[in-house]
Amino acid sequence: MEKVRLGVIGAGNIADLNVAGYLEHPKCDVLAVCDVNQDVAQDAAKKWNVPKVYTRIDDILADDEIDAVEVLTPTHLHHDHVIAALRAGKHVSVQKPVANSISDAREMSATADECGKVLRVSECFVHYPPLELAKRLVVEGAIGRPTAIRIKTLVGQTDSVFQNNLRVEGYEWRLDSRSPGGHLFDDMVHKYAMATWLVDQDITSVQAVVHRRDLFFEPCACIFEYEDPDLIGTMEVNYAPKLWMKSSFYGADEFFEIQGDEGLIWVTRATGEMLDMAPVILHQGTEGNITTTEFADIEANWSTGFKRSSAHFVEALIDGTDAAMSAEEATKVLQLCFAVYDASEKRRPVDPRTVNEVVVPKGWADW
Ligand SMILES: NC(=O)c1ccc[n+]([C@@H]2O[C@H](COP(=O)([O-])OP(=O)(O)OC[C@H]3O[C@@H](n4cnc5c(N)ncnc54)[C@H](O)[C@@H]3O)[C@@H](O)[C@H]2O)c1
Repeated sequence: MEKVRLGVIGAGNIADLNVAGYLEHPKCDVLAVCDVNQDVAQDAAKKWNVPKVYTRIDDILADDEIDAVEVLTPTHLHHDHVIAALRAGKHVSVQKPVANSISDAREMSATADECGKVLRVSECFVHYPPLELAKRLVVEGAIGRPTAIRIKTLVGQTDSVFQNNLRVEGYEWRLDSRSPGGHLFDDMVHKYAMATWLVDQDITSVQAVVHRRDLFFEPCACIFEYEDPDLIGTMEVNYAPKLWMKSSFYGADEFFEIQGDEGLIWVTRATGEMLDMAPVILHQGTEGNITTTEFADIEANWSTGFKRSSAHFVEALIDGTDAAMSAEEATKVLQLCFAVYDASEKRRPVDPRTVNEVVVPKGWADW
């Protein structure tokens, strides 16, 4: 394949951020967009200068000019849409979370193998330059052997143009029984992915306390144990509805710390720009040599992770290389998500590798 001819399925709130990377890639032609909402489909086609508009998924999948699709529909539809696309002979990139249950995710992966097509899950945090740099520094041994990872997510308020322009319909399916959980499912899959990807280790045990606040927010504190018994992880989600923060996107931001036995790395932002400091800071200390390096000039706009994720899919298809993240990796992320709910419900440790079905927190969608 010399050029990827792409179709976009679903043109809702997050579509612009995802499609930008395809539109600007010299080896990708975005040929079609499909959305059940005809106005949404037509507006997107006009904005992106895309020639074909569909309102039925069967019609875009029957289009022989399309090699690959980007699935941007609500999460509970991923299973059916991805399997239909694979069976129609398309390579597929689907947004996180991969699916609503482990069995659905596994079926999607098996279908990709059966059809001989690429299925990857688009995870923008894997392609966010400050986190890529942090991972590279860990791999290069800049902090020695990793001993701890700390991931903090803060949800507050912003008056960004992006947030103010979100269509409210994009939230309805996230707040009822079409979703197996709230914010810890919908957004925290990014952070669960980071908890293993940054240190390249599987998690073997999860302890968690999850609370519930308004809308779908679920403040929590979690402890992760890893394959390496000397590595420990903590993850917290804080909800501060009266805290206004700088962000060009959602009213949220993240902070990551990877501690090693010879240094530590901070990634001080992702979704927002809450803290006015270098996006990546490396502190190293060996006997007689203590240094702090601030990576102040690194590209740190959150939208870059989306663009790079789209470009990565195009390049993987053209080069015949693996496309991140694999369905297997995304399934592990989902297992970790459900392990957090399960550990909190049971108030005891849960091994995410033993989670084989969906875990819906008690009372979810009744509040
Ligand atoms: N990477 C990220 O940071 C990020 C951020 C937000 C959303 N997402 C993911 O992207 C996906 C979409 O989220 P969103 O916020 O854009 O949701 P949304 O509800 O705003 O958009 C979904 C679109 O799909 C369309 N649609 C529904 N059923 C369809 C069908 N059968 N055929 C064609 N189109 C159909 C809807 O009309 C809507 O326009 C979700 O899986 C979500 O988790 C990822």
